[in-house]
Amino acid sequence: MYSKEQEIEFNKQSKEFIIHQKIDITSYDILKKCIQYHEWKYAVQNEPSISDFEYDQLFAILIAFEKKNPHLISSDSPSQRVSNDIVSEFHSVEHLTPMLSLENTYNIEDLKEFDKRIKKVIDLPEDEALDYLVEPKFDGGSLSIVYENDQLVRAATRGDGTKGEEMTANARTIKSLPLQAAFSKYGIVKAELRGEALIRKDHFRNANLKREAEGLPLLANPRNAATGVLRVKDPRETASRNLDIFIFQFSYAVDEQGVNQLAKFETQDQSIQALHDLGFKVSTVERKVNHGIDAVFHFIQQWAEKRDDYEFELDGMVIKVNELKIQERSGFTSHHPRWAVAFKFQAKQVTSTLLQVDFQVGKIGSITPVAKIEPVPLAGVTVSSISLHNEDFIVSKDIWYGDTVLVERAGDVIPYIVKSFPELRPSHAKRIVFPTECPVCNTTLIREEDESAWRCPNYECSAQVTQRLIHHVSKDAMDIDGLGSSLVERFVELGMIQNIADIYQLDYEKIATLDGMGEKSANKLRNAIDKAKQNPIHRVLHSLSIHHLGKKVSKLIAEHLDHVMDLQQWPLEKFIDIKDVGPVVGKNIIAFLLIKKT
Ligand code: IVH
Repeated sequence: MYSKEQEIEFNKQSKEFIIHQKIDITSYDILKKCIQYHEWKYAVQNEPSISDFEYDQLFAILIAFEKKNPHLISSDSPSQRVSNDIVSEFHSVEHLTPMLSLENTYNIEDLKEFDKRIKKVIDLPEDEALDYLVEPKFDGGSLSIVYENDQLVRAATRGDGTKGEEMTANARTIKSLPLQAAFSKYGIVKAELRGEALIRKDHFRNANLKREAEGLPLLANPRNAATGVLRVKDPRETASRNLDIFIFQFSYAVDEQGVNQLAKFETQDQSIQALHDLGFKVSTVERKVNHGIDAVFHFIQQWAEKRDDYEFELDGMVIKVNELKIQERSGFTSHHPRWAVAFKFQAKQVTSTLLQVDFQVGKIGSITPVAKIEPVPLAGVTVSSISLHNEDFIVSKDIWYGDTVLVERAGDVIPYIVKSFPELRPSHAKRIVFPTECPVCNTTLIREEDESAWRCPNYECSAQVTQRLIHHVSKDAMDIDGLGSSLVERFVELGMIQNIADIYQLDYEKIATLDGMGEKSANKLRNAIDKAKQNPIHRVLHSLSIHHLGKKVSKLIAEHLDHVMDLQQWPLEKFIDIKDVGPVVGKNIIAFLLIKKT
């Protein structure tokens, strides 16, 4: 995509922009290209050559210039990735070529059958080997992307295969998708690509941690997360969710006369390499041309072993005849191309029986139903306990006590219940009735209109108190080394801590006498707690377990504070004045401080 010289030049120019903090009309284009280059390094190549801070500075210079010169802004400017306009509805659009599905295979016999069929079509003797390109079957949301005159003009979901829903504004926010690509280099004026929008496993995990902290229902798996993000109506929200895209098919390309240009490539591998050279994220180390179906199977087996360590969720591999002429001769059915198949990895699903449901009280009082199931081994662990999230989840999945349930664990992702089997329901099965009172303190539960969780409103509820203490010392909050949840629970039981302040007035002499502790451990704990006293304000804010006050909002508010207690003087308006801080969290903080005063 970029030569070594170009890379050196872009880095040099970027440094100069950062030093001078200014651009003019002539350097505007260069700055745009520099930012595009850094986006490619970061999102496609996975090896950024500048820090986030430097990138942000380049972006700020661009925005400042465009603010003064709005008439110069082009739609491929990096500033135009994220639109401020809310999408009211997704329009139906027709794909340039049908978006087909894939036939599934599950074992070597199926693959051999597929290989045999192709050879029959092209009259090749059975003992001769064909070349197949094999790459991961990415598990996300399928997108068709159209470029005209080198500009991204449209993106749409698969829909029914003929027509999909237009999602251009959301797709533009994906940093690994170029807004501009030099198709004209190949004489192509209009092109359609196919790709899979995905979310990395670690981003998925972080997103769920954040949702948990904010009391929102968890996302079931990375696939649902990716397809869900594509359907969000505010592109700014989509932009914040770290979507990625792998392009796996060059499905349409014509020149000015409408003549097909795909014939320029001899193989699938070449066409994918061309897309790579145009700046798209395609499988690179992940893809391989294999000679013969046995080599294909061997390559697939290697991937089956390493899929858990891969950064994206995969549900199999895709095998494509490499030679495009053979692809053409094999053709399509109405459902799938005859020259490609999917090899599905063994599903990480098992069935089990739901025995019991525990209703757990969280740090802000949210009641989480947790299913206890007949323990089953699944993808390397024994699963016996699974979150049911909230009442709506139980109702929508029609889950009863005694039901057979289908459990899935994708990669290293937390297990979840895919479905129940009402048809297998035993006669003694009973409906799960959500409690109306807190299972710990018996206070009547409440449910706010726009929330999915029932909550115990009693701030003094002992379960909440303990959960708040556990959150306070956790890695995400005050990060007190050596003070884990079980030690917090033990201190609570012994009456040594009842509130956050008690953590900072612990009796270390007494701790040294506790079973399994000793002087050394007590000293270590004292040091860790002393160290936590130096924590920045945003950590302190986040550690207080205030509803909707996550890490990000804590940081935004902390920027305006010298001391946490200064917040006692803050009227609601002051919270709202901070960008991205809403009235809800402002009110919650004010209410929290009132509790503390009384
Ligand atoms: S090729 C004509 N390659 O799997 C081309 N599809 O189950 C047909 N998918 O709708 C698709 N990774 O969304 C192809 N490397 C890959 C893929 C892939 C994921 C998805 C794609 C397709 C679905 C079919």
